[in-house]
Amino acid sequence: MSCYHIRGGRPLEGRLTVQGAKNSALPILAATLLAPGESVIENCPHLSDVDAALAILKGLGCRVWRQGDTVGVDASVLAGAEISRELMEEMRSSVVFLGAMLARMGRAALTYPGGCELGPRPIDLHLAALRTLGADIREENGLLRCTGRHMAGGEISLTIPSVGATENAMLAACGCPGVTRISGAAREPEIEDLQGFLQAMGADIQGAGTSTVIIRGGAPLRPARYRVMGDRIAAATYLCAAAAAGGQVALTGVDPEHLRAVLTALEQAGCSVQTGPGEIALTSGGCLCAVPPVVTEPYPGFPTDAQAIFMAALAGGRGVTLFRENIFESRYGHVAQLRAMGADIQVEGREAIVTGAGGLHGADVRGGDLRGAAALVVAGVAARGETRVTGLAHIRRGYDGLDVGLRALGADITETD
Ligand code: UD1
Repeated sequence: MSCYHIRGGRPLEGRLTVQGAKNSALPILAATLLAPGESVIENCPHLSDVDAALAILKGLGCRVWRQGDTVGVDASVLAGAEISRELMEEMRSSVVFLGAMLARMGRAALTYPGGCELGPRPIDLHLAALRTLGADIREENGLLRCTGRHMAGGEISLTIPSVGATENAMLAACGCPGVTRISGAAREPEIEDLQGFLQAMGADIQGAGTSTVIIRGGAPLRPARYRVMGDRIAAATYLCAAAAAGGQVALTGVDPEHLRAVLTALEQAGCSVQTGPGEIALTSGGCLCAVPPVVTEPYPGFPTDAQAIFMAALAGGRGVTLFRENIFESRYGHVAQLRAMGADIQVEGREAIVTGAGGLHGADVRGGDLRGAAALVVAGVAARGETRVTGLAHIRRGYDGLDVGLRALGADITETD
């Protein structure tokens, strides 16, 4: 079984350009369906989730190519409006294709997206939003049959600022004549990035990044060339690794504004952080100190996707820090593995109390989800001795060469069988 073999304890040093954002690339790839012709997406990371999105597009009849970080999708001729169970189960964000298919084809058949590694992840808000726009959605034995021949703009009010539901509604609304107003929208930067691509396609859409998005839909769109923004969670991962191991690193290709909550927490933990346009520099003396409660919240709050990674960095520090996971019910799968490395972490419901152990030691550990697995790599890079992290399939879903990036910063990490 392939694993990352890490000899930890070396400080990190150097510069790194951060990969394109997974959570932007996926909805943007779905959006390429909206216009006949070839869209070109730059800075598209090499990830298994991106491969899954491209497989879905091929299955729908698109011609797809990739050259380095650039991906082309020609959606001139579509051959079907069905996504197989197998592809739907490969990644959760496959559900964002539903809005795009309704906008372009007026119908879609797919199953519920797979897995539940972070606890239940319903799609009720997605379906309610699309029904508000007039979609007819029927469920038969786990299969969703959706038709949208009479869809029109409408008032969507999200009770939770769901990222995926906001994106699905934006995509569907582009195909609906009339005005759609999404209130209670999620404000994540990736939603702004999706809006940027839709605008480049000629869509009349504004407000992304605030809690109200307004779309005047129904006009034909054209294919576009677009560059995906840098990945704030990949950036947070490299920063947390350097914070925990000590050293001095500079990241480029990422907007520091997107990471404000994480950068503040890293400063509170004792790191020095400097930012410039598209650049973040961090200096750390290693052993971090405790910080005020880390409470995960929708953007611009502390991101749930950085919770495990930051916890791994603090686990080897000093002092007591309370974590509260507000977004997902069950997102502490990494805790038992961190304990195997010497961490002192108590979990009760949605809260975790981390008592810094003043250093972790290497161990054989297994990642059970994408960010949880990345957290073990962060811990391993800072820990004394050797760590073997398995579960690399999870890491490949969201990181374009995490080992390569960390090696470039001086970590001793290799992939072995
Ligand atoms: C997206 C991100 C993921 C991140 C999450 C929260 C992508 C591809 N993934 O996931 O990395 O961790 O945002 O920032 O962008 N909910 C419902 N009903 C719904 C939809 C969501 O109750 O129909 C709940 C969820 O259970 C969760 C909360 O809303 O508690 C937020 O989830 P959501 O923002 O939808 O997350 P995703 O879009 O799946």
